[in-house]
Amino acid sequence: MAVIDRVTATPASALPPAVADIAERGERRGQGEACAGRAGDDGVIVQRLSRRYGDRLILEGVDLHIAPGQFLALLGRSGSGKSTLLRALAHLDQDTAGAGRITVPARRAVLFQDSRLLPWLRVLDNVKLGALGPDAEARARAALAEVGLAGRERAWPRMLSGGEQQRVALARGLVRDPRFILADEPFSALDALTRLRMQQLLLQVCERHAPAVLFVTHDVDEALLLADRVIVLESGRLSLDRLVPTDDADAGEREALRIRILNQLGVAPDAKHRAAGRQGKPSLQPTTFS
Ligand SMILES: Nc1ncnc2c1ncn2[C@@H]1O[C@H](COP(=O)(O)OP(=O)(O)OP(=O)(O)O)[C@@H](O)[C@H]1O
Ligand SMILES: [Mg+2]
Repeated sequence: MAVIDRVTATPASALPPAVADIAERGERRGQGEACAGRAGDDGVIVQRLSRRYGDRLILEGVDLHIAPGQFLALLGRSGSGKSTLLRALAHLDQDTAGAGRITVPARRAVLFQDSRLLPWLRVLDNVKLGALGPDAEARARAALAEVGLAGRERAWPRMLSGGEQQRVALARGLVRDPRFILADEPFSALDALTRLRMQQLLLQVCERHAPAVLFVTHDVDEALLLADRVIVLESGRLSLDRLVPTDDADAGEREALRIRILNQLGVAPDAKHRAAGRQGKPSLQPTTFS
C-alpha cells in the first residue's frame, strides 16, 4: 500500500476544533507559564494514522494531538501497537505500509529500552552525535552535566552501568534541545531504585526544556506519576484518553483513573495481590501488565 502524507506542516489555525481544544488544555501540571509552547511549536499532530504489517492492520485511523510541554503516557497490551505508533512519530518506519498525516517538531529525541550507544565511541562522542554546529562539544558537555555525568566524558559505554548508559542516551537527545521526546519503555530494564532516579531526572529535564513527550510504559503507576495525560491503545484505536488529576486533587480521583486504566487493559486491580497471596496489603511493585 502506498504511504501518503507522512509529514506535513499543518498550521495550528487549520486544526480541527477538537484538536485545538486539546491544545488549550496542554499546560504541564504545576508549571504554569514555564511550559507554554514556544513560537512556531505546534506540538505533535497525528491525523487518521494507519499502519499495517502484511494483512494485519495495527493502527486504524488514530487521531492525536500532544500539546507543546505535555507529557503523554501511552499504555496498551503487548502487541497492541504502541511501538508501531512511536516509530511512526519518530519517522523510523519509512518501510512500513500505512497512511495518515503526522506533524512533529524537527528537534526530536528518541529513547529505547536499551541505550543504543555506539561502543566504539567514548561517552562525550556518543553525546556529540546528537549535536550540530561549532559549539557541539560545549553543548554535549553541558548535557552530560545535566544528567549528572560530568567527569565521565572519556569513559567507554561498557564502563557505565545500565542506568548511566540511559543517562548518556538522554544527554544525547538533550543536546538538540528537543521539542519532542519519544520514549519506548526506557526504564523497564532498570532496577527499582535506578528507575525511580531516572523518572525524577526525566521530570526535571521536562520541566527545564518543556518538550512534548510520548512515553510508552507497561506500568500504570509510572504513567500516573509522570504524565499529564494517559492514553490506551486497543485494537488499533485509542480506547481511553484522560488527563491525569493534579497532585493536589482528591486521591480518590487518581485511584479511580488507575482502576479505569487497569480495567481497560483487562487487569483486575486486585489481581496482583491475589496472585501473590498479598490481598489487602499495599503493592510494593509497579502495577504492570502484558
Ligand atoms: N516489523 C514487523 N513485521 C511484522 N509484524 C510486526 C513488525 N513489528 C511489529 N509487528 C507486529 O505488530 C504488532 C504491534 O507491535 P508493537 O511492537 O507495536 O506492539 P507493542 O504494543 O509495542 O508491544 P509490546 O508492549 O510487547 O512492546 C505485533 O503483533 C507485532 O507482532
Ligand atoms: Mg513495544
